Amino acid sequence: MKKFLITVSTLIGFTGLNAAFAADEMMHHGNHHHEMSVEDTRTSLELPPEMKQHQLSNMREHVEAIKSIVGLMAENKFEDASKIAHIKLGLTPEMQSMCSMFDNENFKKLGFAFHKSGDDLGDALHTKDVKTSLRALNKTMEYCVTCHATYRQ
Ligand code: HEC
Repeated sequence: MKKFLITVSTLIGFTGLNAAFAADEMMHHGNHHHEMSVEDTRTSLELPPEMKQHQLSNMREHVEAIKSIVGLMAENKFEDASKIAHIKLGLTPEMQSMCSMFDNENFKKLGFAFHKSGDDLGDALHTKDVKTSLRALNKTMEYCVTCHATYRQ
């Protein structure tokens, strides 16, 4: 009987704890995630369907480039990381013509500034200094964040 009571009270204890966690989670969401509204208030670029997939695959390459740069930095391979920054994130003729295709002037400007920061990142990595490189990486990633917060397809 005693054993049974201990089991029951332990179960109740766990349940209570879980409920407390759930309540805390809900409060957290309630208080801090106002931006997670059901409505997407970002400006639409009104991309034609044929440009959508192209843009998304291009974006997936951007995130892959960031991943490679971080990995190479950890291995002290700054020259390789620098090359990736210039080739994949920098203002190459390919990126230049891609960004020029958009009708939205501000988006275009943001795109060019982002790719320019990719070249700056390449230069920073070239110095092989971790802090200089991380600062430049942070700056480049600020463009990812700003643009995603402002625009959608
Ligand atoms: C000038 C604007 C701009 C910049 C800068 C930008 N993106 Fe994007 N990105 C977009 C837009 C627009 C979409 C589509 C979002 C939507 O419609 O919801 C997108 C989508 C994505 C996606 C989703 C891809 C998919 O397959 O669904 C990823 C991942 C992404 N971007 C990564 C990045 C990373 C990483 C960076 C910075 C290194 C970056 N982007 C910089 C505009 C930008």
